[in-house]
Amino acid sequence: MLTDRPVYATLPTADVARLRRFYEDVLGFTVQQETPTTIYYGAGEGTFFAISRSSGKAAGAHTQMAFRTTNIDADVAALRERGVVFEEYELPKTVDGIADMGAGRAAWLKDPDGNLIGIFQFKAAGLHVADRERRDVFAAGPRIAIAIGSIVDLDVDVIVNAANSSLQGGGGVDGAIHRAAGPGLAAEAARLAPCPPGEARITGGHRLKMHHVIHTVGPMWSGGDRGEAEILASCYRSSLELAEGVDATSVAFPAISTGIYGYPAARAASVAVREIAAWLDAHERPETVILSAFSADTAIVLRRALSDLGRPDLTGE
Ligand code: APR
Repeated sequence: MLTDRPVYATLPTADVARLRRFYEDVLGFTVQQETPTTIYYGAGEGTFFAISRSSGKAAGAHTQMAFRTTNIDADVAALRERGVVFEEYELPKTVDGIADMGAGRAAWLKDPDGNLIGIFQFKAAGLHVADRERRDVFAAGPRIAIAIGSIVDLDVDVIVNAANSSLQGGGGVDGAIHRAAGPGLAAEAARLAPCPPGEARITGGHRLKMHHVIHTVGPMWSGGDRGEAEILASCYRSSLELAEGVDATSVAFPAISTGIYGYPAARAASVAVREIAAWLDAHERPETVILSAFSADTAIVLRRALSDLGRPDLTGE
């Protein structure tokens, strides 16, 4: 829903009461702060927007503010259920309320003042996306970066899969990688199975644009006193070692074990960034590690772990 999505904007209005009914009752926002002239609503990632009393010229036909989403289809469907109507345009051409804008997909709704509110999903949304063709960019850039979206869309040499010991595919990121790579991936991986937790195996990328997939098996969380942190650390180290072995420039990791295997996200993130940073300090390959965050929530957790690490030399921050 929009209430979790990052946004920045102020909407001037002559009719605060009418507008607030829409933002609070229909869209579900809660008031963060209220002054005699302005109401502030909290949105995703610590962002906020405001409606503010003014002479109230309607804002008109251009987008007044836009929410960034990672799943525009789900957001549009959920808002329609709440009675929200989406605009249809010829240019850009909308299909059932959603337009393909090249860099991403977008939808628009109007609030009762006529403000045009956008929802935007970047295709390879990310804070930083490595580009195989432009090695100089990330040779000089940060060595750790976060990219929001599916790992299979990233432009990197190698992706790491959060697999199970059979290496035959599964749900979560494992399912997404096997679907995108095609059946050849499971056939090749079968010859390398079983892979015990903490170890890793490398295969080709098959139909993926990556050269290689590294399959590692994370620990199943069972409270934290069964060596989970050491096994998880070993997943990162073993994977980086295999990536170095194929001279990979850029490697992307999912948040291993934090899905089906139930490892608490913040604890897993601190293990991940600690191991990756230690590796990068001691090795030239890979040059860049991308932390693939499937959701904005994961990105926030990873970002926090990176700032706790306190290494602007690695993150470029
Ligand atoms: N791209 C990046 N990250 C993804 C993607 C994707 N396409 N799909 C899911 N994720 C994220 C999840 O949101 C979670 O944060 O990857 C993280 C790891 O979740 P899982 O895929 O569930 O992996 P894990 O917890 O390690 O469990 C492994 O799940 O799929 C099975 O065969 C796999 O049995 C193994 C188990």
